Amino acid sequence: MANAELFDFVVVGAGIAGLRAAIELAGAGRVLVVTKEALEESNTSYAQGGIAVAISGAEDVELHLEDTVAAGDGLVDVDAARLLVEEGPLRVAELLEWDTRFDRENGELMLTREGAHSRNRILHANGDATGAEIGRALLAHAQAEKNIELRDWTSTIALRVDGDAVVGVDLLDREGRVTTARARAVLLASGGAGQVYSDTTNPVVATGDGIAMAAYAGAEIEDMEFYQFHPTALSLPGVQRFLLSEALRGEGAYLRNAAGERFMERYHALLELAPRDVVARAITREGMGPEGETRVVHLDMRHVKGVDLAARFPGISAFLARHGLRLDRDLIPVRPAAHYLMGGVRTDVDGRTSLKRLYAAGEVACTGVHGANRLASNSLLEGLVFGARAARVMREEPELAGAEVGEARLGRRVGFAKADLQQMMWQKAGLLRDGAGLREAEAFLGRETAGELELRRDALELGNLHAVAGLIVRSALAREESRGAHFRRDFPVRDDVGFQRHSVLRGSL
Ligand code: SIN
Repeated sequence: MANAELFDFVVVGAGIAGLRAAIELAGAGRVLVVTKEALEESNTSYAQGGIAVAISGAEDVELHLEDTVAAGDGLVDVDAARLLVEEGPLRVAELLEWDTRFDRENGELMLTREGAHSRNRILHANGDATGAEIGRALLAHAQAEKNIELRDWTSTIALRVDGDAVVGVDLLDREGRVTTARARAVLLASGGAGQVYSDTTNPVVATGDGIAMAAYAGAEIEDMEFYQFHPTALSLPGVQRFLLSEALRGEGAYLRNAAGERFMERYHALLELAPRDVVARAITREGMGPEGETRVVHLDMRHVKGVDLAARFPGISAFLARHGLRLDRDLIPVRPAAHYLMGGVRTDVDGRTSLKRLYAAGEVACTGVHGANRLASNSLLEGLVFGARAARVMREEPELAGAEVGEARLGRRVGFAKADLQQMMWQKAGLLRDGAGLREAEAFLGRETAGELELRRDALELGNLHAVAGLIVRSALAREESRGAHFRRDFPVRDDVGFQRHSVLRGSL
């Protein structure tokens, strides 16, 4: 195709994994990084609490591994997790060299704790704006590399496939122009899919594009039933779900039910710092009255002394203040919201997918590092470690022969409203699931729509959400047990004999 633009590498997504990879790739050829909104807008920039990293030596590395494996509820790929915790300190040292300003006290890096961590090992920046600060530093570094072209407001329509290899992408710019970019390797670093649910901490860009496009192209997709619900999103009528970082509980916040009781002792010995899936389900249960009515659960920091909460959590405090609430004075209403997808495009520890020349890193990928439930604050670290690892292997990909651009593997047109899809997923495939509800979801998603896919961002995103929803529902139906973030009311017990394995789906949707 005569008008294809030629690059060595295309990176889809400008969050932590994409930018870290692009920096590594810049030494080996021309890199195009595309993102569908402004460069600063990604899941990364909303990450509040921090980045977990074992910077206190070998013992801490081993404990970080143990904590990661324990949180993952029997499904963590231990080799991947070992790489994460061992390479994490090196990647974070690089971030410090690149002028990432983590919070310090008397010159020393401050370390906090979140759920299921056995010690304080979480770095944070500007109190509760860690992702934004890391994103700023990486973007500044990438912008200084002459081999990197950063293109914002550009959606990726589809992967281009030639035989069993991905050879480029089709792109849609803000004016509706479609172009093709050809490359010897493509990295999906497009983040998560929280928008598949009506209640999510994720921004509107999180529509599962990379997972859907990889599935349309025939790549293997893994562990989609494991969607992590963050226990504490702000719950005010008419107000968007806003993340109330687990670091609040790390600094001593309690959870109280409608009767004012602390209830976590009934659910886990670690109380408010139990693994996320346990806390999220406990809040859901405490929030349901005997007749099915909703009862409000609160986060309570009124007893916390010796910490200036407004200074430690400036972003959260400012958001709460807009709604007349203060951490040190008020009970804060909370409920769970979809937060992080442990599953995704199946990769090895170097980001290789099941398709040649296609790589994935960060939330879009599934290395198995999180198993069935991600340990808090391991996701920024994952983006850094596996973004860098994928890029090192991509650099070795040989040039493409000839001028082949293959065929674009497009998704399908979807004929129902996004809000209906999101509500249905929340109710039937959310935090507590069962076979009957999942089959209803399957029937909803199976409704046929005639006509061609329209090349508009909203139509592409809806198609991608539909594809991701289908993958979640199919995987959740097949896993007839409860493990980590996947809880089946009709199969409430973990079943290691039948299900201690990953779920792999393959084939065009
Ligand atoms: C949080 O700040 O609670 C979110 C951190 C994470 O998801 O790891």
